[in-house]
Amino acid sequence: MIRVAVVGASGYTGGELLRLLAVHQGVEVKMATSREYAGKPVGMVHPNLRGVYSMNFSQFSVDKLGREVDTVFLALPHGVSMNYVPELLQIGIQVVDLSADYRLKDPSLYKRWYDLEHPHPDLLKQAVYGLPELHGEELSGAKLIASPGCNATATILALAPLMGWREGDRFISDVKVGSSEGGAKPSEGSHHPERQNAIRPYETEGHRHEAEAEQELSRLAGREVKVSIIPHAVSSIRGALASVHSWVSNVEEVEVWKRFAEFYRGKPFIRIVRRGFHPYPDPKYVIGSNYADLGFALDSRLGRLTTFGAIDNMMKGAAGQAVQAFNLSRGFQENEGLKIPPLRPG
Ligand SMILES: NC(=O)c1ccc[n+]([C@@H]2O[C@H](COP(=O)([O-])OP(=O)(O)OC[C@H]3O[C@@H](n4cnc5c(N)ncnc54)[C@H](OP(=O)(O)O)[C@@H]3O)[C@@H](O)[C@H]2O)c1
Repeated sequence: MIRVAVVGASGYTGGELLRLLAVHQGVEVKMATSREYAGKPVGMVHPNLRGVYSMNFSQFSVDKLGREVDTVFLALPHGVSMNYVPELLQIGIQVVDLSADYRLKDPSLYKRWYDLEHPHPDLLKQAVYGLPELHGEELSGAKLIASPGCNATATILALAPLMGWREGDRFISDVKVGSSEGGAKPSEGSHHPERQNAIRPYETEGHRHEAEAEQELSRLAGREVKVSIIPHAVSSIRGALASVHSWVSNVEEVEVWKRFAEFYRGKPFIRIVRRGFHPYPDPKYVIGSNYADLGFALDSRLGRLTTFGAIDNMMKGAAGQAVQAFNLSRGFQENEGLKIPPLRPG
């Protein structure tokens, strides 16, 4: 049994990690930390986990973690995890970080995209970007896993098969995303009357997930690739749909299909959608699961190829993907703790 802790466990992704780890056959959840709710029962903050956990939240303590756990999942805001990671690694704890703090390889990008000097640039080399479909082998034995962002995940999965195959090095990813992406604390924009029925573009310039998407896609393409990600806040609670547009010539639909099928062969959480009542990916049909539904639409007259990536932002976009990467790092079956089909209706 791997002994694990969730730090920042009162938040949305922390709660989702607790939900998944409760049914994972290879782990024992020893600790769930929260500053605000230390001493209070987990089921008080996460009513869906009533009766699932009898433990109370505890205060974060490196000493206690060092004595009691082997792996820590950090579900903390950007800029907070980066200070906890070195100490945890130093005492031999494996870290799976859900924030952006160790996702980028080039330290100078933190200044540009997150407006901060990275205090531990040496650790960026050691971190493995936790997208198992691209980094499955590197994840084996990884001590520090940097779990990807949700909009980046949907965008990268929709675009990856095109890299190194088709022409083009500039892409537009239009992402519709549900409100849980913003975390558990309400804001002006996420307050129910403001969010309900909204279809609201935001961060239309310089969305931070562009940095990691460009890093990963350029690596795959073997040349510099630029991706513009434009998120749109929609009414849903969970879910992200990336529609990624590109221009192509001399491409047949069957070739795109083949390319996707070959690229993702054997990947247990990728489903390629092409037929049925709903022939394009829709986050509605992955909600609650770790699946990513991928698909495409080719307009031959215009030479426009749109590829789609639909995920549950809390699952394949956060906690589910973190558990999937953890599984590979520890030699568990890739889908351990994640054998949950999506909800319908979701
Ligand atoms: N939501 C998503 O769809 C999603 C997807 C991918 C990645 N992520 C990333 O995952 C991380 C967590 O996101 P979330 O949505 O779970 O956020 P959240 O709901 O706001 O939860 C974050 C938790 O961290 C704790 N916290 C906040 N500030 C802290 C500080 N300065 N020091 C220590 N603890 C602090 C809080 O718990 P206490 O106040 O109780 O201590 C809070 O409950 C973020 O980096 C986010 O970008 C989120």
